[in-house]
Amino acid sequence: MSKILPKIWPQELHTKAKHLILKAYFQSWLSIVGQKYQKIVYVDGFCGPGIYENNEPGSPILVIKSAIDVLNKLNSTNNLRAGKVELYFFDSDKGRIEFLKNEFSKININNSWLNVFIEEGEFENKVFPIVKDLQRERALCGAINPSFFFVDPFGVTGFSLNIIGEIFKLNSSEIFLLFDIDGTDRILRAWGEKNEKIILNLYGEPSREELLKIKDLPDQKQRLQELRNLFKISLRNQKVAGIIPFSMFDSSAKILYDLIFLTSIRTGFLKMKEAMWKVDDSGGFRFSDADHGDQLRLKFLVNHEDNLWAILMDKFHGQKVSGLDIKNFVCYETIYLEKHKTAVLKKHESDDKSKKDSIIVSNRPRKYVYPEQASIQFPEQS
Ligand SMILES: C[S@@+](CC[C@H](N)C(=O)[O-])C[C@H]1O[C@@H](n2cnc3c(N)ncnc32)[C@H](O)[C@@H]1O
Repeated sequence: MSKILPKIWPQELHTKAKHLILKAYFQSWLSIVGQKYQKIVYVDGFCGPGIYENNEPGSPILVIKSAIDVLNKLNSTNNLRAGKVELYFFDSDKGRIEFLKNEFSKININNSWLNVFIEEGEFENKVFPIVKDLQRERALCGAINPSFFFVDPFGVTGFSLNIIGEIFKLNSSEIFLLFDIDGTDRILRAWGEKNEKIILNLYGEPSREELLKIKDLPDQKQRLQELRNLFKISLRNQKVAGIIPFSMFDSSAKILYDLIFLTSIRTGFLKMKEAMWKVDDSGGFRFSDADHGDQLRLKFLVNHEDNLWAILMDKFHGQKVSGLDIKNFVCYETIYLEKHKTAVLKKHESDDKSKKDSIIVSNRPRKYVYPEQASIQFPEQS
């Protein structure tokens, strides 16, 4: 794909949605880690030229401007602990790197905490030494240096399961990854020596047999689902605990790719969910160019409260659990946020003890609040 694209190209709507998620998450992440850690690392491994044909900013520009804002804000409120924020921008295309350098020259960085590196090169070659350095610092002095990697290639090639595994040895790292599920399926179907290498690079050798079974499934929808499930298993084997997918569709509602957020950090999981809810407030975590004119919000007629109630009942029916148990479950094991949890519990509180779908709450200071120490009795399934 990169061969036929010019140095800069028009921005599509789904790219804008991707950028909204990236920017919202990056700002939350830097605001949090900037208050706690000395050294922070961000890598945009497939950074592109920094500008689109219609003058829209690319990912590096969104990130550098957000970084300046966040760090200045933290500094002005005396909350800045980070002494060194390293931002790396890599692209294998020399022309795009030149474009990006030119775009950066228009920005007044003037910020002593920021160290910016813009370099031509292949993602894996460039990122490996950075990851090894972070691993060394951790091993030598136990330093926790939070790192966030944006992996946004064209298509299926350019990164491997191996590098994800190396990044996740760090414990304090996160990845926002474009997973070209449609391209993966096409390459899998045309299995051959070259394609086999590409797919196994992504899934790891132990997945070979499963991949061959998926390849022969006649239904594309089922293949895509199985490919997603298998990728999740491969990621879990690399010690990735939290995985949040967000699917992108084109203007004919055909799947383009999945954006996948990978983390082992609870706050990261929560903050990325918040960022994704901003872009898809249906909670479906999908964006389709087909659903949008100029508008960038997707509104489905989905009833979150009923959905979440069904999930809670499935898990807790007939049980008495604490407010903390419910909070942890909703925040870290569902796509929902704390505000959804409070709304659904409120809706199911009733003074009428004969109502079958009501909770009974004790050990709290007042009605309609569900603090961690509260006791909440769920009804039996009807
Ligand atoms: C989807 S574009 C990036 C867009 C950019 N992240 C943004 O959101 O504005 C992918 C970029 O990856 C670059 N690229 C392709 N293969 C690469 C590799 N192995 N390593 C680094 N960059 C690569 C391409 O030149 C292209 O500029």
